[in-house]
Order: sequence, then C-alpha cells, then structure tokens
Amino acid sequence: MKIKAFIFDLDGVLTDTAEYHYRAWKFLADELGIPFTREENEALRGIPRRESLLMLLKGREYPETQLQEFMERKNSYYLEFIREISPADVLPGARELLEEIRATGLKSVLGSASKNAQEVIERLGIAILLDAVSDGNSVPRQKPAPDLFLHAANQLGYLPGECVVVEDSAAGIDAALEGGFWALGLGPQARVAKAHRILPSLENVWLADLLAMFSR
Ligand code: BG6
Ligand code: MG
Repeated sequence: MKIKAFIFDLDGVLTDTAEYHYRAWKFLADELGIPFTREENEALRGIPRRESLLMLLKGREYPETQLQEFMERKNSYYLEFIREISPADVLPGARELLEEIRATGLKSVLGSASKNAQEVIERLGIAILLDAVSDGNSVPRQKPAPDLFLHAANQLGYLPGECVVVEDSAAGIDAALEGGFWALGLGPQARVAKAHRILPSLENVWLADLLAMFSR
C-alpha cells in the first residue's frame, strides 16, 4: 500500500513540550510533598492528563473533586509555560518535513493526546501546515488505544496502512501498532523499540528517505 499521510504526535515530536509537562507536574508534586523526578516523568510521555496524575500520586487516594483540582492546577502551570512558545520551538527538521509533505501533495495530521494541542501548534506557527487535527478532545479513549490515530486517518478518508504514525512514546507506538498503522519511533531505542522504524529525531530527515523506509 502506498503511503499517503503522516500522523504526527506533538509533544516530543514536533516540539519539546515534554519538558513543560514535566515542570508543571513537578510544581504540583512539590506542593503535595510527593517525590517526582525527571526520570519518572519519562513514563508519562503520551499518557493523558488523568492517567498521568494517577501515576504521579503513586497509589495515594484522594476524592474526585480533589483530583479535578490537581489536574486544573497542573494545567494552569502548563498554560503559563506554553505562553512562551514561538516558531523557534519547532524541533529541528520538523517544519521542513511538513513543508515537503505539503509540497508533494501528501497529507499531515496531528495526533496528540493533549487538550492544549491547538494552542501549541498555533504558537509554533505550524497549524497551517497540518491538514487536520486529532487531539485530546477528539476521542474518549486515548493512547495506548488506537482511537486517536483512527480518528486522524478517518478525517482524511485513508486506511491505517496508508499512514505513518510518528511518535516518541511507548504508549503512542502501541496505539499505532494496535490500529494497523506504520510506526516511526523517535528517540531512544528502549522507549520506542516496537516501532517498525526508529530514528533519533526528525533532524535532517527528508520525505524521500521516509517513503523509502516504509516501501520495503
Ligand atoms: C501528551 C503528552 O501529548 O498529552 C502528555 O505527552 C500529556 O505528557 C498529554 O499528559 C495530555 O496533555 P494535556 O495538555 O491535555 O494535559
Ligand atoms: Mg509525545
């Protein structure tokens, strides 16, 4: 099957908001007196807000209203951080690749679990390079369920086998494989080991290379 589209995760793929998610969770964890390290944050990549909070709480139990307040607090810290985002924060190679995909007549879709994705892509100045957006508001079941990527492919009217999912998280790679998509993992081998193909990042990655990688 010919590759017709790329579904890009946002945090850790097109920009490094993983750091901002970490700092926002860290503020909350410090306020609650819960130890939380940068290493522990790695396991939260791609994980939706609520599940991330439950992992951070490490089994501590709170009433639902309190959990909601924690999530709102974390998100307000995160929103403060992303106000600083500008086009300079697009990760190396990402804008060039989106431009090449557009120029070649292929499609790019955002497939991010974040409810803040629209604001981030607008601040990055890449919203106009994306043909559709599937985000944390699009489907109830988030990664590692395949629903978000299926929603993205549906928006284009393409089959999963015609789309390559570009992901930095283990949960995102699982979601792609479960949905029958091609998976390109970015980052350390250990994190994205199950992907069909793995690259360190999108830096110096050209469309022709990607199409060759997924035509074999
Ligand atoms: C993912 C991030 O893209 O979005 C996670 O990798 C984050 O770290 C998740 O928890 C949900 O984001 P938000 O902005 O809706 O809290
Ligand atoms: Mg990610």
